[in-house]
Amino acid sequence: MNRQSNYDVSERFIKRWSPRSFDSEYTLKEEDVQKLFEAARWSPSSFNNQPWTFLYALKGDKYFDLYLSLLNDFNKEWASQASLLGFIIADLTDPKGNTNKHASFDCGAAWMALTMQARDLDLYTHGMGGIHYEKCYEELEVPNDQYRVICAFTVGKKASPEELSEDLQDEEEMNSRHPTDQIFRNGKFKARERK
Ligand SMILES: Cc1cc2nc3c(=O)[nH]c(=O)nc-3n(C[C@H](O)[C@H](O)[C@H](O)COP(=O)(O)O)c2cc1C
Repeated sequence: MNRQSNYDVSERFIKRWSPRSFDSEYTLKEEDVQKLFEAARWSPSSFNNQPWTFLYALKGDKYFDLYLSLLNDFNKEWASQASLLGFIIADLTDPKGNTNKHASFDCGAAWMALTMQARDLDLYTHGMGGIHYEKCYEELEVPNDQYRVICAFTVGKKASPEELSEDLQDEEEMNSRHPTDQIFRNGKFKARERK
């Protein structure tokens, strides 16, 4: 796997990745589901506003097929095998009724906490922006004047890449990152060169 760390950081970060091959037979334990969202709950947020709501459905429950229907065809194919499908919804308004500029950022932090908790349970997550956004607001009954559907995600037990179609197998585990010196700098901002 092409995940070489430039520096000696905790393996937890390097070993987290987003598989598409999930074990379709695996059922998440109720207590593990609770742990995932509990980890997210303790995330930092601007003014401790905690703007996140996580919607979830477990494979076999009545919302799973509805959630699947909200994904684009590419994601639907592989995500149907995961044990849990979810959506992250951000509250864009703070308790005083003002715009919360950091709502999406805070949802990302909560998502990462959930993801790292998943790894502690030997589970993996995979975020999905490839969703039918307008349909999400409608079908999930999210008022679009105050809330933003950020993305969908899966949680599950990783399976062999061979369970995937050939096209997807080629992409499984392939990964790269921008060079270290392009992502942080001492001093002032300089735009990264676009490839
Ligand atoms: C907000 C968000 C949206 C994403 N959307 C998709 C998606 O629609 N389909 C997909 O297969 N992967 C999606 N991904 C996964 C990214 O492509 C993946 O995280 C990235 O390539 C880095 O790979 P890694 O997570 O394996 O390290 C998404 C990830 C995030 C965080």
